[in-house]
Amino acid sequence: MPVKEIIKLGDPILRKACLPVEEFSLLPPIIDDMFDAMYESEGVGLAANQVNLDMNLFILHIPGEDENDGGEPRIFVNSKIIATEGKSKDSEGCLSIPGVRLEITRPEIITLEYQDMDRNNHVEKFSGLTARAIQHETDHLNGVLITDKVSQVQKLQYKQDLKEIERQAMVRYSERQSGSV
Ligand code: CO
Repeated sequence: MPVKEIIKLGDPILRKACLPVEEFSLLPPIIDDMFDAMYESEGVGLAANQVNLDMNLFILHIPGEDENDGGEPRIFVNSKIIATEGKSKDSEGCLSIPGVRLEITRPEIITLEYQDMDRNNHVEKFSGLTARAIQHETDHLNGVLITDKVSQVQKLQYKQDLKEIERQAMVRYSERQSGSV
């Protein structure tokens, strides 16, 4: 099986609020595919709609964020941010917008309600890079991208790149719709 293609800015699935997961039995192979796609692109997080799946599901693996240091792969199903604290600004990239980095301001600490692969409910607090990545992936699942969160001025340097990414994404979208690929 080839690694799943990462959907790029311009494709309508990235603008969708994703549906809750109900069939948990379907998750294991989907999650394996998502980790393969994320690692291949050397990302630290991936939302399901970035591999063309309309599901409230994202994964993270942030090396160095854990005390033991290699970091730990994490899976979040049907998640929702229920509280935030503070504010921080940092540079972010996105596998769906290759080559672009933008300074994004977000809350510094978040509380997340989510389910694991076995449908157990959890409430957990996150800070640092993990909190930032969770907010980035949560935005994806609500159809929001980092380009929506900055001024036109900040995007100006990437104007041509963004246009080209969108153009190619629309070509790929049409190919998929027509079933030719
Ligand atoms: Co992203």
